[in-house]
Amino acid sequence: MRTASEIRQTFLDFFKDKGHEIVRSAPVFPKDDPTLLFTNAGMNQFKDVFLGTGTRPYSRAVDTQKCIRVSGKHNDLEEVGVDTYHHTLFEMLGNWSFGDYYKQEAILWAWELLTGVFGLPKDRLWATVHHSDDEAMGLWREMTDINPEHVLKFGDKDNFWMMGETGPCGPCSELHIDLTENGCTPADINADRADVIELWNLVFIQYNRQQDGTDVELPFKHVDTGMGMERLTAVLQGKSSNYDTDIFRPLLDTLSEICGRPYEGANRIAMRVIVDHVRALSFAIADGALPSNAGRGYVLRRLLRRASRFGRTLELNEPFIYRIVATLVREMGGFFPELAERQDHIERVIKGEEESFGRTLHRGLELFENVAGKLKESTSTVFPGHEAFKLYDTYGFPSDLTELMAREIGIGVDMVTFDQLMNEQKDRARAAGKAKLANGAAEEWQVVREGEHSEFTGYESLTEICNICEARRSGDQFHVVLNRTPFYAESGGQSGDRGTLIADDFLANVVDTWKEGDRFVHLVDSLPEDMSVELTGKVDTARRLNTMRNHTATHLMHAALRETVGEHARQAGSMVSPERLRFDFTHFEGVTPAQIEEIERQVNQKIREDLVVQTKLLSFDEARAAGAMALFGEKYGDTVRMVSVGDYSLELCGGTHLKSTGQTGHFKILSEGSIASGVRRIEAVTGDVSAEILLQEQRMLSQVKAFFPSARFEDIPKQIESLIEERKYLEKELKKLKSESASSGLGALVEAALHVNGVKVIASKIESDSPDELRDAGNSLRQQLGSGVGVLAAAIGDKVNIVAVVTDDLVKTVQAGKIVGAVAKIVGGGGGGKPHMAQAGGKDPSKLDEALKAVPGIVQEMMG
Ligand code: ALA
Repeated sequence: MRTASEIRQTFLDFFKDKGHEIVRSAPVFPKDDPTLLFTNAGMNQFKDVFLGTGTRPYSRAVDTQKCIRVSGKHNDLEEVGVDTYHHTLFEMLGNWSFGDYYKQEAILWAWELLTGVFGLPKDRLWATVHHSDDEAMGLWREMTDINPEHVLKFGDKDNFWMMGETGPCGPCSELHIDLTENGCTPADINADRADVIELWNLVFIQYNRQQDGTDVELPFKHVDTGMGMERLTAVLQGKSSNYDTDIFRPLLDTLSEICGRPYEGANRIAMRVIVDHVRALSFAIADGALPSNAGRGYVLRRLLRRASRFGRTLELNEPFIYRIVATLVREMGGFFPELAERQDHIERVIKGEEESFGRTLHRGLELFENVAGKLKESTSTVFPGHEAFKLYDTYGFPSDLTELMAREIGIGVDMVTFDQLMNEQKDRARAAGKAKLANGAAEEWQVVREGEHSEFTGYESLTEICNICEARRSGDQFHVVLNRTPFYAESGGQSGDRGTLIADDFLANVVDTWKEGDRFVHLVDSLPEDMSVELTGKVDTARRLNTMRNHTATHLMHAALRETVGEHARQAGSMVSPERLRFDFTHFEGVTPAQIEEIERQVNQKIREDLVVQTKLLSFDEARAAGAMALFGEKYGDTVRMVSVGDYSLELCGGTHLKSTGQTGHFKILSEGSIASGVRRIEAVTGDVSAEILLQEQRMLSQVKAFFPSARFEDIPKQIESLIEERKYLEKELKKLKSESASSGLGALVEAALHVNGVKVIASKIESDSPDELRDAGNSLRQQLGSGVGVLAAAIGDKVNIVAVVTDDLVKTVQAGKIVGAVAKIVGGGGGGKPHMAQAGGKDPSKLDEALKAVPGIVQEMMG
């Protein structure tokens, strides 16, 4: 029996022998394609080649691509676990032709590999073609020995492939395998049967689907194929379920051990979901994604929470998903080294998420059970939207999890109400934030000059003689593409260059530069009248130099960080601008102030050593062999640029750097903090900015020092500390004195009390800073009264506060709550409390005297 690894290798080698370049899988999420949350097909990384905006040094390629299909056009989530052949993450084996071979070779080789190399029975294979594609139909029937009756035509739904709502697309031809006992019929193809499944899709890419739904013919025709690695393995290993192959079996075994239950009967669905989801989570985290509240991060969070909840059905109440990662790494870390390298990080992130969901999962499940129980009594079959929203908002249950749980007991969820509540919440959040201004829509490119474009010369020089190749309008600005350019286009976290484009009587400001496929696009504020005129492009050198300071310092800091906090600290994101640098890295606790100092010290030491920065172009494998650090989820071409700083740092990087570290001047960390579970962020500055901040701090210290003219500098913190202590002591003393004097003041009031029907009555205004202080005074008065009624009032700010007290012997006849209510009414307020003590507020201090004068009358009235 072939192992999964052997099957993968056989596929790659087969096409290598046919002149294909073996290409690495791109990360599971595309960094530079906003139309996709996750890589959903092998062709994503070649989209630019199909569209004609990018090129590769080869015209045939083969790979296995990590794909995740949980959102957007290709979404298999609902099937996962329920059936045995859909997955959130799967490997797509594919071969490509970029304007090279077409339908004939694609069909012939697919047939040769499946039947000749893998030995699948010919009479069990079926081919489908698009109903308009007689050519493919003919090729199958004439060039292969497939049973001609096994070639069927289908419409767009099954045989026209699109990456998304827009983008490369075309008719396709699929290979299906019949795994039924007695053989299937044409009606069983594309009928969602577990024993008649699609294995391989051969897409003949020839169009670019537009926003408006029309297809524009591409300049060249391409082949894009995709075969499900897990399905192929199941078929070749003679298994009717993907979960019985050596891809999933070891994961199920580990899970069985953890939960102490076999993969059997009622456990099956839950166990399948869990081992499926742990793969998607691990691969995505290895590529640098993290669970979060939005976008792809939220997809990961949803997957994790689903798996967590299915764990509860296996009575797994403690974090457990992370414990399966080691097995996955053991099985797949060889071919996908990113898994092995980041095992610790993956485990910690998953465990952290499991712990945080674990805190609310139990109570959420209770709420669900409660609501479901009530529904049962009422025979309603709809789970209320506001309860689903509460589950989401308070207990972190993604709506699809609630729907899934509802489905399990045969009810639905009122998603209309849920969505409405969700939108209201979003609107509130949006109103709280600032609306981001959208750029004006860009028009079509206008070609000015045919031929090569966008040669980047800005590593060496900051000025370049150049010509405009293409231009287009965008709002009231313009985009231009130059034949040669010194302007660095934003990438790898480094911001795009600015500067000017100059001709004899023309000057345009370049306000940003970015990449679109192979194009370097410059955003400019004007265009020359004659666009064929020769221009001088000048990069804003001061700005660029500051950017390079921050970029080189980023590499130094990365190295220093790893030496200081440990090798597990790896770049998870970075931003380098002229003003500052921001660096995100994997680490699980705060970096201590002592470590921050150590990092600063090391980086500044390396700056003073003036280490030489060198760059070298070499193959990816050579660079890795040399020990260069590759970054999380970064897509590297076959030739990479290696940046070394002395022998201190070695990284793959396309950015611009200083010639030597001394030019950095100085490095200073401004802040350190957490941005997600397991990821920290450091912000730092260099050069002028760093120097300026040091000066500011120096200035501030001098101001502080001026308060202690005779102290030595190093004694100042002590001096400040003793001042603070002294102040605390004085405050306490003051409070004591105040209360003493207040109580003697109260004594005088008691002496001067009125008598109403033989009862002592006091009504007086006193000084007080707060309602609390007034209440304390009320308490003392009550004690000093012996027997009597007292009302004290104070103006605090522009409000009035009143306290009334009655001694115990009188509470039957007079109540403090009633008195204070009547008094407060006069000053425009209200309040109340207990019979012996009550407090109230009022709005009108000018009526205070009048209110106090009314007290004896109020008391008299109450005594009847
Ligand atoms: N791009 C094709 C698919 O994903 C091969 O099915």
